[in-house]
Amino acid sequence: MNDDLLKEFSPKQVEELEKIIEKHKGKPGALIPVLEEAQVVLDYLPIPVQKKIAKELNLPLAQVYGVVTFYSFFTMTPRGKHTVRVCLGTACYVRGGKKIVEAIEKEYGVKEGETTSDRRFTFETVRCLGACGLGPVMVVDGNVHGRVKPAKLKEILANYN
Ligand code: FES
Repeated sequence: MNDDLLKEFSPKQVEELEKIIEKHKGKPGALIPVLEEAQVVLDYLPIPVQKKIAKELNLPLAQVYGVVTFYSFFTMTPRGKHTVRVCLGTACYVRGGKKIVEAIEKEYGVKEGETTSDRRFTFETVRCLGACGLGPVMVVDGNVHGRVKPAKLKEILANYN
């Protein structure tokens, strides 16, 4: 049953997943810690991973799926190498945050919450990063970029390969 997993993950990752399951198996409330640790090792939790976890923990797949989709910190799709967050809090919005979002959608072909097909960027929006004076604000990984203009977007993101 690991064949599906090995299409997407390395043998080492699958082995790590098995160790994680083994460590928590049989304990009450094992599901969430298993999912959390699995996501650290695998980056994301697609259906084949959920199936394996469900089978090994003796839980219905629907329950595992329900938890993964309920909590926003679990993801079923791979994340990009870099995370781009654009602020859409009120101050940034009125200073042009929406235009930054539109430019990203157009230039990189992603909607909010999506990852570019080359897995370079995951794009998210946030509500106020506490740097309103610098609006519109965009944070790439941990780096804050202020007064971002759509025309400068590509130049900024070119630094993240
Ligand atoms: S509204 Fe964007 S940092 Fe506050």
